[in-house]
Amino acid sequence: MARDFLDIKKGLPVIGVGLGLRREIADETFNHANEIDWLEFVPENYMRLGGMAKERLETALGQFPLVSHGVNLSIGSTDELSDQYLSELKQVLDRANAPWWSDHLCFTSIGGAYMHDLLPLPFTKEAVRHIADRIKRVQDYIERPFLIENISFYMNMPGAEMTDAQFMTEILETADCGLLLDVNNVYVNSVNHNFDACDYLNQIPLDRTVQMHVAGHKRIGEYVIDTHGAPLIEPVYELLNYVLERTTVHGVLLERDQNFPAFDELVAELKMIRAVAQKTQPGLASPTHRAASRTLEPKRPAAANSLPAKGGRDLRALSA
Ligand SMILES: [Fe+2]
Repeated sequence: MARDFLDIKKGLPVIGVGLGLRREIADETFNHANEIDWLEFVPENYMRLGGMAKERLETALGQFPLVSHGVNLSIGSTDELSDQYLSELKQVLDRANAPWWSDHLCFTSIGGAYMHDLLPLPFTKEAVRHIADRIKRVQDYIERPFLIENISFYMNMPGAEMTDAQFMTEILETADCGLLLDVNNVYVNSVNHNFDACDYLNQIPLDRTVQMHVAGHKRIGEYVIDTHGAPLIEPVYELLNYVLERTTVHGVLLERDQNFPAFDELVAELKMIRAVAQKTQPGLASPTHRAASRTLEPKRPAAANSLPAKGGRDLRALSA
């Protein structure tokens, strides 16, 4: 992309407060379309798939703006980038007409084997150069703005030459990409690695934030495990507000991947997130497309002839 990312950010739509598209709650999600501004989907779950998965994506596309959040780009790996993966990802993103797409600052593969886990990287200059180069290559190939997400991690890789915040900053600025800022991950890391979450946020280029994640976690003794299986806690709402006071954000997503409550509880959490956003960014709390879509009947799924036929993988919807 020839244009600076911060210029690109100005042209991106403000899509509001959304929810992850998950198979277990898909029907209720579609039935509550008026209370959810947009959906985030895991593209690996829709590559080369037909049947129910394809139908689910098409139904979502008929009712919501969609944004893609991948898990298998493995941007930090020393494995070659997969042409096949990128080709299939691009097809899904084109079908979803996603305004941006994201994956994690981590590696998920080594020696061609996928780990199904988001593994931390060494905070080194060599890793910055390697990852920034790969981000530029995938941005150019996909031709849509790319956001990298900060992960939660439970061990530090050896050989660090800089801090976590410096590493994230170097990656964002060298690659000239956007940030998907997960403030639950910041909170989890701040507890497990004993640092001040606001100090971390003050050190990274918050103006590159396009999207945010908020989620719940599980506390076990002195440690916190990022589960996406519990309600948000007050410190995470406070970190959301801290960021929204400092930079314009185009979408906030509630991540809930397990231990699903009654759907009304998720709707109530979306309202609480909107109430936080309303204080500083009313356009985010009440995006323009939402008011328009409320007057529409849910659309029937469009004729789905753009996605490749059935026969591929069905990865579990893990996300950070
Ligand atoms: Fe996340």
